[in-house]
Amino acid sequence: MAVIIDNKKISEQMYLLEIEGQFQGKAGQFYMIKIGEYPLLRRPISIFEITDNSIKFLYRISGEGTELLTKKINGEEINIQGPYGNGFPDIEGKIALVGGGIGTAPLYQACKELKENSRNTVVDLYIGFSEEIFLKDLWEQISGSFFYDIGGFITDHIDVSQYDAIITCGPDVMMKKLVKEGLKNRTKVYVSIESRMACGMGACLSCTCKTKKGNKKTCKDGPVFLGEEIYHV
Ligand code: FES
Repeated sequence: MAVIIDNKKISEQMYLLEIEGQFQGKAGQFYMIKIGEYPLLRRPISIFEITDNSIKFLYRISGEGTELLTKKINGEEINIQGPYGNGFPDIEGKIALVGGGIGTAPLYQACKELKENSRNTVVDLYIGFSEEIFLKDLWEQISGSFFYDIGGFITDHIDVSQYDAIITCGPDVMMKKLVKEGLKNRTKVYVSIESRMACGMGACLSCTCKTKKGNKKTCKDGPVFLGEEIYHV
């Protein structure tokens, strides 16, 4: 069991949870967080940030489990297991990180890691918010160049041809458009997809997704895939 040290509301539907301890993992991976006693109340939640003595998760209220999670208070114990999933690839060059809504969750740690891993890497961060911006200070701090849109299409602000690679997470329509543009411009686009999950470890098949290379398990083979394997564009 680990101890919650913060669980704060950061917008109408979003919370940032911080748990004390030293945790493993990389951007794009997730933990299964046990919220209630009933076994189904375990939710996969992406790593938002790993620090020397804590791990943070950004989550959105999307049902009974996450609603219950918002009620957890500082000092309460929580059961988390992970990290699971493949995470984002180690890449270099000029990279755009593109997120929408809760899809922004893995991009903070991704930005941090990409910059730490190579001095030659330039990272631009693009985030689309549907109604209100959240964590603006954090996004500005982590990325020297942060662009955002509220209520529109963040993809309208991106010239895909400028980038060696794009990492994206968020609505299908956004990721699909980037994959299409990426193919035209020879820019590799990696997408992080969402699936219903039960075990998180590759055992139950509830997260099976169709790819051009056959059926895959989102929790184990993904959640990060090369975009052209997922979308027919
Ligand atoms: Fe069980 Fe992926 S969640 S196999």
